[in-house]
Amino acid sequence: QPSADVEGALLAHLNANGEIPDSRAFASSLGVPHKDLEDVIKRLLAFRIIESTDITTEAWVLTDEAKDYAARGCPEVHLVAAIPPEGASRAALKEELGDVFDIALKNAAKNKWIEQGNRDLVLRTVEDTKDELQELLKRVENGEDEVQEQLKRLENPKTREVVPDPIKVLKRRKLVTKEKTIWYSLKKGPEFVVKRKTLATDVTREHLKSGDWKDLEFKDYNYGAQGQPIAIGYSQPLLEVREAIQNIFLEMGFSEMPTNMFVESSFWNFDALFQPQQHPARDSHDTFFLKAPATTTQLPDDYLEKVKQVHQSGGYGSKGYGYDWKRDEAEKNLLRTHTTAVSARMLYKLAQEEHFAPKRYYSIDRVFRNEAVDRTHLAEFHQIEGLICDYGLTLGDLIGVLEDFFSRLGMPKLRFKPAYNPYTEPSMEIFSYHEGFKKWVEIGNSGMFRPEMLLPMGLPEGVNVIAWGLSLERPTMILQEIDNIRNLFGPKVDFNKIKGRPMCRVGL
Ligand code: PHE
Repeated sequence: QPSADVEGALLAHLNANGEIPDSRAFASSLGVPHKDLEDVIKRLLAFRIIESTDITTEAWVLTDEAKDYAARGCPEVHLVAAIPPEGASRAALKEELGDVFDIALKNAAKNKWIEQGNRDLVLRTVEDTKDELQELLKRVENGEDEVQEQLKRLENPKTREVVPDPIKVLKRRKLVTKEKTIWYSLKKGPEFVVKRKTLATDVTREHLKSGDWKDLEFKDYNYGAQGQPIAIGYSQPLLEVREAIQNIFLEMGFSEMPTNMFVESSFWNFDALFQPQQHPARDSHDTFFLKAPATTTQLPDDYLEKVKQVHQSGGYGSKGYGYDWKRDEAEKNLLRTHTTAVSARMLYKLAQEEHFAPKRYYSIDRVFRNEAVDRTHLAEFHQIEGLICDYGLTLGDLIGVLEDFFSRLGMPKLRFKPAYNPYTEPSMEIFSYHEGFKKWVEIGNSGMFRPEMLLPMGLPEGVNVIAWGLSLERPTMILQEIDNIRNLFGPKVDFNKIKGRPMCRVGL
């Protein structure tokens, strides 16, 4: 029976009779569990539509053990029944009665229904147990099962009231427990109504259409209610470290490069960086090439010619690579494999200005590499890139800037290892001492851009560029102790973890 019906029946009954003296009796007359009626009563009490008086009773309730005895009789009675007139061994009776033997023996003895004695036998073997030598004899024909009678009467709602206090033995044997039950006597409250109006919480389109909004009574606002948690404003670990690094660059006077072009031409990604066209990185095993549009049509012709020359035959003091440079290869579109492509574009742009001015540039954005995905590699990641261009910069300047940058990131101990990049000379891998792992870990790559890259762009002679790059994922995993890159970025990120990192909650 739905609670609305129970409520209707209760209010109608109160309206007709003025009172309900016993909610239990009323619930059974409606054929609903008392618990359901109780829910309705509590609701109506809150609105002062009814008033109630509690009626508390305590009743003895049978334990599971007692229910079993009520149904099948007590174990001590079974024991007496099992003993033949000439008596039986303890062992045989134990076997017959099973688990309840000890209880049966104890109570039968207490009732003086049995006698225990030693069998007058000579020890036959050492294995003979005491049980086999002990004999039980009965002193009564049958045990009278008074306990079972009591339990049966308590179990029956019609007869339980006449058992004022169960016999002591039931309590002693823990066969009954006292349980409190509460029921109610009910009468009309100050706000009594036969039919409760359902209060509206919202004006709906239907209300407006039918015009019944005029008669609506609204539910009061509950200003104390807890609001829904707001599903915004969590910090993603990657973004958190990104912001920290961005702030370091800004503090050091760097400005951000525009990194909004994920699709680049091979020209800016490789050729402008003096990376030969046969270089293995330019293979589709390492680089994602685009199918459509497969090529670019917008390349600066003058500059392109200079790049071609430096690859083929050198210049600016270089021998070049001595191969047949192809424009087709340079026109191929790809997903940029590093943000150094952006650095190349920015330096070229800078070289086109009338007067050279020193610059500090940085970027943090996505790059793509056709790599096998595992717990430390994804096919795309974020690259952090920094560069400084000015007259007369040296490797010492690069080392100094790197030490400044990484110590601000919390990695003050650095080591450098000579390395090779087509576009930098000298080049250095950067290692940082990891206090937790107790070893040196590689954290980035750096170098001084080659004259073969800078001079064809038109940058003045004597201008040097020091630069470095690293992934954002690497320091994030180290700083935030995340051991699987897939928990950091991509479709497997656990949103519940991110939702455990609220950024800030203003107010309250
Ligand atoms: N482009 C390099 C990389 O992808 C990083 C780098 C940037 C190295 C600038 C030297 C100078 O690893």
